[in-house]
Amino acid sequence: MKPIINHRGPEFRDLYRGLIEKVKFVFQTKGDVFILSSSGTGAVECAIGNITSTGTKILVPTYGVFSKRLHDSVATFGGKAIEIPVEWGDAPTSHQIEEALQREKDIAAVAIVSNETSTGVRVKDLEVIGKICADYGSLLIVDAISNLGGDYLPVDEWGIDICATGVQKCLMTPPGLALVSISEKAWDKIKETRRSCYFDLQAYKRYQAELETPYTPALNLYYALNEALDMIREEGLERRFKRHKVCANAIYAGIESMGLIGFAKPEVRSNTVIAVKNPAGIADKELRDILREKYRIIIAGGMGKLKGSTFRIGSMGSVSRFEVLATISALEYTLLELGWASDLGTGLEAAGRILAQLG
Ligand SMILES: Cc1ncc(COP(=O)(O)O)c(C=O)c1O
Repeated sequence: MKPIINHRGPEFRDLYRGLIEKVKFVFQTKGDVFILSSSGTGAVECAIGNITSTGTKILVPTYGVFSKRLHDSVATFGGKAIEIPVEWGDAPTSHQIEEALQREKDIAAVAIVSNETSTGVRVKDLEVIGKICADYGSLLIVDAISNLGGDYLPVDEWGIDICATGVQKCLMTPPGLALVSISEKAWDKIKETRRSCYFDLQAYKRYQAELETPYTPALNLYYALNEALDMIREEGLERRFKRHKVCANAIYAGIESMGLIGFAKPEVRSNTVIAVKNPAGIADKELRDILREKYRIIIAGGMGKLKGSTFRIGSMGSVSRFEVLATISALEYTLLELGWASDLGTGLEAAGRILAQLG
């Protein structure tokens, strides 16, 4: 609703200066950060495109739709993706990464999705993976689209060289902006790489010195992001991460006590996306239709090879006890209506007990 301002004028510079500082706070980095006018995929493409030349070797663990997409994007820039296939529902480990780095030579980067949205799985030892990448002289690129701002993910402390995210998930902003952070080590590689036009990070850096962007920014979304980042600062990162974890745990407890089964292995399950196996004999489309039409609760279906066998509950951004309890309760009523469940309240009680940790 705010007026459009000149994106090469003083008001924009004030907005942009503040935004850069707030984005650095959320990424927990002192390195460079850039705001791209694109969805999250733009930030991932920017990360890969700015470090990949013909034959550049990039190691990519694949454990779902988005990590597979990350893997495939390497070839778009003439790079050579080396895949570490991981069973869906499980997460790649630092051990697997180290083994591959030992086996393969000249790996320029390890590119990894930190939270696989399609399977509801989170990589648990990213910090160790960061140390291993540093030891082997490889860059660490992270697609943190579905958990940056929801999970503890300190970019500098964990040695993440390029971290990419979208604003529409844990950062509570309407879709259309993506964010990337760049370490000093990553700049060395970027400088020697032929790069794309729209996502040319060197141009972004040059323009940022004048508090401008190379191309017209999605200004209205900058206002929205600014507000969301202020809300995040007011809440505080630690409280925010705890809220995400408690809400996710409450959903897991709720569904399990109803007799449903999570898709991810318990030790690697996500704090922001809860993937659930379809109850026997129930099509998730039918379940999701009732939830949407009768209870105004929208959950997602399965993706890729999990389409039709799982559904997914987003638990991120401004998620609170209200959304958790409403979702679990509506799920109970829906499963009763579909004839799968025979009682009400067990899921709600289990979720409620966990939510008490929010204080
Ligand atoms: C892990 C991950 N990577 C990439 C994407 C693609 O992001 P976008 O749809 O914003 O381009 C998503 C979207 O859900 C995602 O969850």
